[in-house]
Amino acid sequence: MCGIVGYIGKQGAVGALIKGLRKLEYRGYDSAGVAVLDGGAMLVTKTPGKVAALSERVRAEWPAELLASARAGIAHTRWATHGLPTQSNAHPHLDETGRIALVHNGIIENYRPLRARLEAKGHHFHSETDTEVLAHLVGEFFSGDLFQAVCSALHQVEGTFGIAVFSSLEPDRIIAARRGSPIVVGMGDGETIVASDASVIVAHTHRVIFLDDNDVAVVKADSVDVRDLDNVPVNRAVAELGMDVESAEKGGYEHFMLKEIHEQPEALGNAIRGRLDFALGSAVLSGMNTSPRELAELKRVIMVGCGTSLHAGLVGEYAFEELAGVNAEVEQAAEFRYRNPILGSRDFVIAISQSGETADTLAAVREAHQKGAFVMSLCNVVGSTIARETGRGVYLHAGPEISVASTKAFTSQVAVLLMMALKLGRGRRLSREHGLELARAIESIPELVTRVLVQDDRIRALAAGCVRDEHAYFIGRGPLYPAALEGALKLKEISYIHAEGYHAAELKHGPIALLSKGTPVIALACDIPGKDKTLGNVEECRARGARIIGVVSEGDGEAAEHMDECLEIPRTHPLVTAIPAAVALQLFSYHVARLRGCEIDQPRNLAKSVTVE
Ligand code: F6R
Repeated sequence: MCGIVGYIGKQGAVGALIKGLRKLEYRGYDSAGVAVLDGGAMLVTKTPGKVAALSERVRAEWPAELLASARAGIAHTRWATHGLPTQSNAHPHLDETGRIALVHNGIIENYRPLRARLEAKGHHFHSETDTEVLAHLVGEFFSGDLFQAVCSALHQVEGTFGIAVFSSLEPDRIIAARRGSPIVVGMGDGETIVASDASVIVAHTHRVIFLDDNDVAVVKADSVDVRDLDNVPVNRAVAELGMDVESAEKGGYEHFMLKEIHEQPEALGNAIRGRLDFALGSAVLSGMNTSPRELAELKRVIMVGCGTSLHAGLVGEYAFEELAGVNAEVEQAAEFRYRNPILGSRDFVIAISQSGETADTLAAVREAHQKGAFVMSLCNVVGSTIARETGRGVYLHAGPEISVASTKAFTSQVAVLLMMALKLGRGRRLSREHGLELARAIESIPELVTRVLVQDDRIRALAAGCVRDEHAYFIGRGPLYPAALEGALKLKEISYIHAEGYHAAELKHGPIALLSKGTPVIALACDIPGKDKTLGNVEECRARGARIIGVVSEGDGEAAEHMDECLEIPRTHPLVTAIPAAVALQLFSYHVARLRGCEIDQPRNLAKSVTVE
């Protein structure tokens, strides 16, 4: 999704802004732009396409002296919502006078009436965007104080925004504000950076302020003053960023996705470390902040999320029901938020979100709070909006996930959900013995994953056989059913092969009509309850000429016999199996996409963090 960078300070602003935009590329975007001052006049360059194209244009078109001398500016990567990804629709946008530049993430919902009102007053617009309307509105309110003009404009807008505003009239400051779209301000030594994502900031400083909704910050090279929309000062704590520069770099891997797949033993180790209690056969998750009584009285667990996070919830569903004997449901967050769900104080709503910024999941959290449910979150990004609004929950500690396609966050989400279910189970009906068995299996997850990763060559060979396919089907049962859904999602996201995941039993209720000679079916038939039935479904596919690629348990010759080709993954507790299976499918998708020459880390049309509905 869109990304914001603002820089003011001692370094060359142009270099810092372009470097910042590069850090945001992973979020997915289709155009980019930058604005600085040239001798008191606002200079804006924008282009459809990549940051590299923007950088080339800036270096070719801007005076060399300006590249070195500019000390402040704003920049943006845009993921089109209102209007095509063209040069005119790219940000920054200017006000009517051309003296105020603005970049914006989010959506101004009432931009049409605002635009009509401004047009009636003689404003001329050069784009189809909602953002340009906001830039003009700020200009309309400007009467000598940029901060006040921004506040007055924001009072009139409905919708979501993270913005940075820069003006030739007040070149010593950037005004930043947020409502529903993250803004973080990094306070360095003689320089201040505004960004929509902390990964921009780590190269400069680790001291940050996360703006809250309706905060407006006056950002100068050596100070940050945060106020509300009515100019009342608000106190925002300075936080220390945990992430380092290296974890935001590729570290020798060809793609971030590959790096993140290979980081999983470590990421999972971090998610699990110190959270298992072998004496009690339970888990210690203090962030859940629940009393034994609350656990015992709990009636229902409802997990909400989108995409990959939703799939993690589906694995969790099996764990909560089996271990804790509690009714568990998983719901697409966008559906949950508008469905008028029936909730009460004995319902645990768990919001699952890697980024902690997904608009629909955040809205689901607010709906659940509104209805008095017990709400917690499972996020990776520390200090993200969902984590802060839920106030309780568990962080993944998987480290920054840069690749758009989620990998290590998914497996860490599953591991944490298993620990949550274990803790809940032990507070209810699960015996110490069974708890201990699962705790040991969870402890072994990093090693299980390593044993899949060492099969990279084998997985690449399987992938090579699928490079020319245009359709693929993934099937599984029990916890391997969500793993099949996730496998199909990964393949379609990054290789653009049409891929669908189905419950193995569901295939014959319709989708089997699509199978013909050679259609690849990836069958997750590891040794868990229901395996024999999956093998029966595999035979149904074979009878239609499908080519079966099996993922089976180590040494399971019987299962392997049903497959045309096969990959073996380590045996483990049935609830844990989804993790090594998912890792195998991540690598499979990665190699298919790479062999097809796809742009793996930033697949077309996708964004890392979906902050619009
Ligand atoms: C797929 C993927 C997405 C996200 C989804 C939710 O690889 O990453 O499906 O899982 O957009 O994002 P979060 O987890 O940040 O709420």
